Amino acid sequence: ARDFTIAIDGPAASGKSSTARAVALELGFGYIDSGSIYRCATLLALRNNIADVSTGATDLIDLINKSSVNIKFQPSSTRSAPNLITGRLSVPDVRILLNEEDVSEEIRKPEVNRLVAKVASDGGVRTAVLGIQRALAGAAETRSTSVAGKDGVVSVPGGVVMDGRDIGTTIFPNAELKIYLDASAMARAIRRWDEMNSSLKQARAADPALAAGDKAPAEYPSVEDIARELEERDYADINREHSPLRIAKDAVVIDNTAMTFEQQVYSIADLARDRM
Ligand code: C5P
Repeated sequence: ARDFTIAIDGPAASGKSSTARAVALELGFGYIDSGSIYRCATLLALRNNIADVSTGATDLIDLINKSSVNIKFQPSSTRSAPNLITGRLSVPDVRILLNEEDVSEEIRKPEVNRLVAKVASDGGVRTAVLGIQRALAGAAETRSTSVAGKDGVVSVPGGVVMDGRDIGTTIFPNAELKIYLDASAMARAIRRWDEMNSSLKQARAADPALAAGDKAPAEYPSVEDIARELEERDYADINREHSPLRIAKDAVVIDNTAMTFEQQVYSIADLARDRM
């Protein structure tokens, strides 16, 4: 069978990244987080004091072209089967390297969240990122293999899962499976808040001064703040001129507001297997 591409698009915090990673693990595919490349571009802008992207675009594009972005996805380093007691699926970790530096945490900071949609709206920046995206996808893709089974030699397809905003519409318009993942605005904001809350708990456990209240925790937004930020980012992503967020006409729309993570992952993996 030929190699298989799954495009997962949708608004901010709809669960694209964890879903894409679990689907990639389930199918033995590679994974590319395209949003992280825009986040790296945004970090380059912040670190080099390019506050106004519209006037500094040429400088920023130059910086992007001179930089390397690497996405390390190692599904083999985690348990690949669901937990037998809880049935819960594991989500493999992914690390983002910008010029060999691990920026995985830094690119999720509020400053980056606030600026990234502006950076991603620039046509020149998008062209620079496009090259990185396609190269990374080619390198991450797992190859099809033939294995001897009880029914003779069977072919196991390889492939890649990529998530973002314009993967099915612009980056891989011929993807074998396109998913548009959505959830209500409130569900998305609450999930993101939960995520931040658990990382704050982890930070408290690791740092006695933080736990004792002797040290102020890092900036910690309310659900309302998060909802507002997500809405602003979606508005910018939907209304920009260059490859805006759209539902590709041949995409399968999945609203996961009332679905479990496992239902969602298995339904996407099944859709893929049906088309292989
Ligand atoms: O997916 P994530 O939230 O990390 O993406 C951050 C931002 O990067 C998005 O809000 C969007 O502005 C931009 N982006 C994009 N096209 C993609 C992926 C992300 O414009 N394919």
